[in-house]
Amino acid sequence: MNKVLISPSLLSADFGCLKDDMDKINRSEADWLHIDIMDGVFVPNISFGFPVLEYVAKLCKKPLDVHLMIVQPEKFIKEVKALGSMMMNVHYETCPHLHRVVQMIKDNGMKAGVTLNPATPVSVLSDIITDLDMVLLMSVNPGFGGQKFIPNTLSKVRKLRELIEEAGSEALIEVDGGVNLETGRQLVDAGADVLVAGNAIFKAPDMIDMIHKMKNL
Ligand code: DX5
Ligand code: ZN
Repeated sequence: MNKVLISPSLLSADFGCLKDDMDKINRSEADWLHIDIMDGVFVPNISFGFPVLEYVAKLCKKPLDVHLMIVQPEKFIKEVKALGSMMMNVHYETCPHLHRVVQMIKDNGMKAGVTLNPATPVSVLSDIITDLDMVLLMSVNPGFGGQKFIPNTLSKVRKLRELIEEAGSEALIEVDGGVNLETGRQLVDAGADVLVAGNAIFKAPDMIDMIHKMKNL
């Protein structure tokens, strides 16, 4: 079996020592860097914008996994691409014309991910699953790091795995929110391919060792 992919979430980094944290990520076994962009409208918080992210993109050597928690994410495809992003994740709940947005992301040379809030069933993706490179399941309500994992996510991962297999889709399953060594193990057993972790990694006494442990779940 392939090892799980690890995408540390920038939101929990120490912005006073951003360069040090990015150096550690670069030296670690992390596969990607997860970047949360918020608008204070779709979610009740605001994170960072493109001027800050341009600096992050210069410091970080890992592929960028960008998670847009904003209304009308299609307005920012060019900016996300300009960062050199590998993956652009948009929320199902913000895209009435999801098929069009997914095609626009791919036409701009990025992989396309669709994110589901905890209350959104995986079945809403049945008619688009073969077009997706990834499905990002929120295991907390989006907007903040450090929240408690919602256990129902495990059953959503299993349902999504079935949906992907039945359709012959190549989409990866990523999970975001409250992921630590314990919930990470449960997610890997349920069939997750990619784990996002903010607090569990950036607040660990030894980030590099924590990432190593997560890689070996
Ligand atoms: C929450 C964000 C997450 C967050 C995860 O809205 O999408 O990526 O940073 O943080 P932890 O792992 O601390 O729950
Ligand atoms: Zn996220």
